[in-house]
This record gives sequence, structure tokens and C-alpha cells, in this order.
Amino acid sequence: MIIAIDGPAASGKGTLAKRLAAHYGFRHLDTGVIYRAVAHALLTTGVDLKDEARAAQVALTLDSATFDNPALKSQTVGSAASVVSALPKVREALVAFQRQFASQPPGAVLDGRDIGTVICPDAAVKIYVVADPRIRAQRRTLEALSRGEPADEAAVLADILARDERDQNRPIAPLKQAPDAILLDNSHLDIESGVRAAIDIVEAVR
Ligand code: C5P
Repeated sequence: MIIAIDGPAASGKGTLAKRLAAHYGFRHLDTGVIYRAVAHALLTTGVDLKDEARAAQVALTLDSATFDNPALKSQTVGSAASVVSALPKVREALVAFQRQFASQPPGAVLDGRDIGTVICPDAAVKIYVVADPRIRAQRRTLEALSRGEPADEAAVLADILARDERDQNRPIAPLKQAPDAILLDNSHLDIESGVRAAIDIVEAVR
């Protein structure tokens, strides 16, 4: 069984995906981390983020052991990831890895931007998570501060809005709700209520 969770930056989809995977004993893949890892590799080697050939090469040879690098969580890497992820050859290079992950038993939860629309269009369950941009900015700011990173809420909000704009308007695999995805508005839900709402959605289609 595949559960596809998509939504904009800081909507809470990652937490929901992790909790759903734990609940059902499924494997979890945060696909944003993959794009972040590509962006981080380019930033640290000084390669232009729009150099599609080099970026695709990095994507093809990516080592999943690098995915738990804490440096990938920063706002800078997130923004760079949204630039790199608009490059068609980078996306193409990463499709097989994601589909392969999704197809392994006993089941998988993948979260990202194009899981329900492109990577796993036949997923048994699709959830599209949204939340008010100001609430997302508040959450991201608190997270950054708790990691000891400086964060200014207005700047975080501007970054989130710019990222939404890029992710929704790129020609390839734009962020959008799949026609058969269930909308979950996470603006006013605490984590436990959000998890319960997501489990209810899964149970309804199981
Ligand atoms: O979800 P996260 O903020 O970690 O994603 C970083 C960036 O990676 C997103 O802004 C988006 O541009 C890109 N991304 C994507 N497709 C995915 C996951 C992430 O384009 N499936």
C-alpha cells in the first residue's frame, strides 16, 4: 500500500507522513530531502544551481546516506532545492529511486510535491495538506530557533511565499492537488488532531 502526501513547504506534511508510517508499520520517504541533498551538494561545490547537466549528474549519483545531514534542514538549502527541483533532468533522474522505494513491502508513505500526481499516481491514498502561510511561517520560525538558527518570521514568510510560487508554477511536476487527493487543512490542528484526521482518511479508503 502506498500513501502519497503532498503539500506546500511547512504545511506539516512531513510530521503527518512520519506518524502515519509509524502507525501502519510502513517505510517513510521525505522526498524533499532528496532535492535538498542535490542542492546542498551543488552549493558546497560552488556549482551554479541552474547548471542542469551538473545538477542531473549529482542527482543520478546521490547517496541516500547523505539524507540525514542536519545541514539539509536550513532555509537556504530549502530555497536552493526549490530552484534545482524545477530542472526537468534533475526530476527525471530521481523518479526511479522514489518509485523503487514506494514499491517495497509492506507499504510506504512518501511526502513531497508531486507524489500523488507524478511519482505514484496509483497510490491507494492521497492526502493534500495545506495550512495558512502565516501559520506555516510561525512554525518554521520556531523550528529554526529551536535548532539554534537565527530566524525572522517576516523573512521566513517571504521565503515560503516565494517557494510556493516557484513550486506551483514550474512547468514540470508543479505542486498541485491530484484530482483524487483528499484535502487536509492543517492550519488549526495540533499534531495529534492532524494525525487522527490523516488516519481517518486512510481508514476510509482501506
Ligand atoms: O519539502 P521540502 O521543503 O523539504 O522541499 C524542498 C524543495 O524541494 C521544495 O520547495 C520543492 O521545490 C522541492 N520538492 C519537489 N518535489 C518533491 C519534494 C520537494 O520539487 N517531491
